[in-house]
Amino acid sequence: MKKGICILLSLFLLLFTAGCGNKDDGNGVENILQQTDGQEGQSTDYEQGGSGTEIQESSEAVSEPEQESDMETKILVVYFSATGTTKPLAEYVAEILKADLYEIVPEDPYTEEDLAYYTNGRADQEQNDSSARPAISGGVENMEEYDTIFLGYPIWHGQAPRIISTFLESYDFSEKTIIPFCTSHSSGIGSSADNLHSLCSDSTEWLEGKRFAGETSRGTIEEWLRDTGLSK
Ligand SMILES: Cc1cc2nc3c(=O)[nH]c(=O)nc-3n(C[C@H](O)[C@H](O)[C@H](O)COP(=O)(O)O)c2cc1C
Repeated sequence: MKKGICILLSLFLLLFTAGCGNKDDGNGVENILQQTDGQEGQSTDYEQGGSGTEIQESSEAVSEPEQESDMETKILVVYFSATGTTKPLAEYVAEILKADLYEIVPEDPYTEEDLAYYTNGRADQEQNDSSARPAISGGVENMEEYDTIFLGYPIWHGQAPRIISTFLESYDFSEKTIIPFCTSHSSGIGSSADNLHSLCSDSTEWLEGKRFAGETSRGTIEEWLRDTGLSK
């Protein structure tokens, strides 16, 4: 008799728990099916509690802005041009890339006499003094907004003019990309760009620079920009 009651009780318990279990499963499966309609895989994770949902959402949230920021790379074209040779090239770069343009203007403008090289004039003296930092008039107020900086300068005694050092030491270029370019009478870009690296953060990425002759055409600049991958 006792045995019979036990069996009956066990059967009742079994049926009761099975019933509850079915109810839960039913809801879960229903939700998953609703979620998976047209969204296979993703919604299954969605059903797996708080942490699953967060991971999924944050990975979506991360990937979308990354794609957007790739598309929204903000470029600044910076140049110094003492006699007007580098200037039109910088303007081509800015026009082609629809970038902002900033001219480094010396607080104390260079006279013809200052620029006469091998005369021990002002420019010669500055280039012979690695600590020379000619002052710049004005500045870039929103440098933090730019990801990529094109930096154009003339070659002075094989190097970038010291005013370029002033410019580089005036801002934080961490995590930014700098693309140097220069003009010269005949010298190549040589070590002029490499010697500027130590003036910036270790996290500044320097792309390979390029030297152009005076009166380089817009087409040549376009070709170069295509090579950098910043222009189609
Ligand atoms: C002080 C000084 C030094 C120069 N040194 C060189 C040089 O080492 N090699 C070279 O090919 N041209 C040299 N040049 C010529 C300039 O690099 C060239 O004219 C340049 O295109 C000028 O650019 P800008 O008109 O934009 O200032 C020098 C010019 C100056 C004023």
